[in-house]
Amino acid sequence: MTTPQRVLVTGSAGRIGRAVVKELAARGHGVVGYDVRPTPGLPPDRSVVAGLLDVDALRRAAAGAACVIHLAATPDDAQFPRGNPPDDGDNFVSELVPNNVVGPYHVMEAARALGVPRVVLASTGQVIDGHLRTGHFPVTPDSPPRPRYLYACTKVFLEALGQVYARQHGITVMAVRLGWCPRDAGQVAEIAGGELFQDVFLSPGDAGRFFAAAVEAAGLPPFAVTYATSRYVHQLRYDLGETQQILGWAPQDRWPTGSSEF
Ligand SMILES: NC(=O)c1ccc[n+]([C@@H]2O[C@H](COP(=O)([O-])OP(=O)(O)OC[C@H]3O[C@@H](n4cnc5c(N)ncnc54)[C@H](O)[C@@H]3O)[C@@H](O)[C@H]2O)c1
Repeated sequence: MTTPQRVLVTGSAGRIGRAVVKELAARGHGVVGYDVRPTPGLPPDRSVVAGLLDVDALRRAAAGAACVIHLAATPDDAQFPRGNPPDDGDNFVSELVPNNVVGPYHVMEAARALGVPRVVLASTGQVIDGHLRTGHFPVTPDSPPRPRYLYACTKVFLEALGQVYARQHGITVMAVRLGWCPRDAGQVAEIAGGELFQDVFLSPGDAGRFFAAAVEAAGLPPFAVTYATSRYVHQLRYDLGETQQILGWAPQDRWPTGSSEF
């Protein structure tokens, strides 16, 4: 039994956030949710409804936390591949920059100002997408970024931001390149149609257990990049060795377990 910790989870009302809140609460941790909408499963006094750009609210929510799990983000490109004019817009300036670039800066600044010792940042396998497309797998934490598109570029920034705050401010930071935890039936159908997608599938249960392990693990390195997926079906795509070594976590599920739990 680990000591209960106070944990701030941003993006707590989202697909992965709800799974993380559920797992942490089941393990007895004191969870505070932070999202622009109420977090299911948390009482109103522990479900902060605010945006990442509300610096005062963010700092109030982070006060006393032993760990921040930062999930809040715009979770993909609005459109990729690009359409033809006039339907060739993107969401970079309108959503990706405020939510995925400025927002994480405020999260890391809150951690620095309040002395939060540990932050776990949700990155994505889309930062190494180019390796997967050229058949270079399994990818490792050392694989250089080959981002898929603009959303993935913001996650490359997120990883760099975490590394800087670890080195310059002594915060223990883990950036996890997450596999695909589908948010709706359309995404489940997409995963069903591709072997690569099935191999990088991440079940809500494995996601919850991964982040709980990241909260509870002792002796983390100052900064680490890890991967999190469920067990592969066809071929190993993401090398989970370092994740297992650092956190003592291993996935339990395999596609399609949990894929339709929205
Ligand atoms: N689901 C996946 O397959 C997957 C894969 C790789 C990485 N990720 C990353 O994991 C994280 C969680 O993804 P998800 O699938 O749960 O996404 P989601 O869209 O289901 O949840 C994101 C949550 O963040 C909240 N949010 C967004 N912007 C916010 C802001 N500015 N302030 C406060 N709250 C805000 C949303 O309201 C939402 O509840 C994201 O960072 C995403 O980029 C997800």
